[in-house]
Amino acid sequence: MTVHFIGAGPGAADLLTIRGQKIISECPICLYAGSLIPEEILAFCPSNATIINTALLDLDSIIDECVKASNAGLDVARLHSGDLSIWSAMGEQIRKLKEANIDISVTPGVPSFAAAAASIDKELTLPGLAQSVVLTRTQGRASAMPDDESLENFARTGSTLAIHLSIHNLGYIVEKLIPFYGANCPIVVIFRASWADQQIIKGELYTIENRMPKEIERTAIIFVGRCLDNDQFNNSRLYATDYSRRFRPGTAQE
Ligand SMILES: C[S@@+](CC[C@H](N)C(=O)[O-])C[C@H]1O[C@@H](n2cnc3c(N)ncnc32)[C@H](O)[C@@H]1O
Repeated sequence: MTVHFIGAGPGAADLLTIRGQKIISECPICLYAGSLIPEEILAFCPSNATIINTALLDLDSIIDECVKASNAGLDVARLHSGDLSIWSAMGEQIRKLKEANIDISVTPGVPSFAAAAASIDKELTLPGLAQSVVLTRTQGRASAMPDDESLENFARTGSTLAIHLSIHNLGYIVEKLIPFYGANCPIVVIFRASWADQQIIKGELYTIENRMPKEIERTAIIFVGRCLDNDQFNNSRLYATDYSRRFRPGTAQE
């Protein structure tokens, strides 16, 4: 018996991995993390599967469901939105499942920041502009931020920022970032990337708050950085004619 953690992707059902779909279709029990998992993905469960929304449960109750399944010898598909490596609460579940001697597996998913970048046709690492992406968040009710992981500290690097779980803090974000990126730095908010009701709001740090529709209060990625609207970047060396590389030997023009 195994609890299979599966990254269910950002929303669109066809962004679920083939591996994830196969495991879901083979598990008699599915635990899914609330409204960010679409019905179309739950429809991959066997028709007689037990399907439980864990948004209504606490950690111990979720583990109890897994222990019950383990005692019955039934595999569990455990679905979280996006990928499991960021803000999935998988870590605390794995710790408890290991204590209970329950096997686990992890299947990655398309993270929401990747779907959000795709929705605006953008590469977030453009040569000469930014070569790092910071996946971060601001402080929420439930989670304190470590002191050194402040927006100011990340902003000092000039990286592209992908700010999660923070649309309610947009004013604070703008105020903290203007001294580093400048008031006219591009910012894009992507609400429910890849869902049918996806919305994209583009602006500059000093304009974005006035452009935000009132109804967007959650499930949004905020991108900030020069890669978002700048075509004045260098070509990468990867496809340069004077750059000889391992799989294209001898292509360098001397
Ligand atoms: C609990 S975190 C889950 C992150 C997820 N594990 C991932 O890989 O993206 C929820 C936050 O992810 C972001 N998010 C999740 N799905 C999204 C989507 N489809 N579009 C935009 N942002 C999304 C939002 O910032 C939201 O507040």
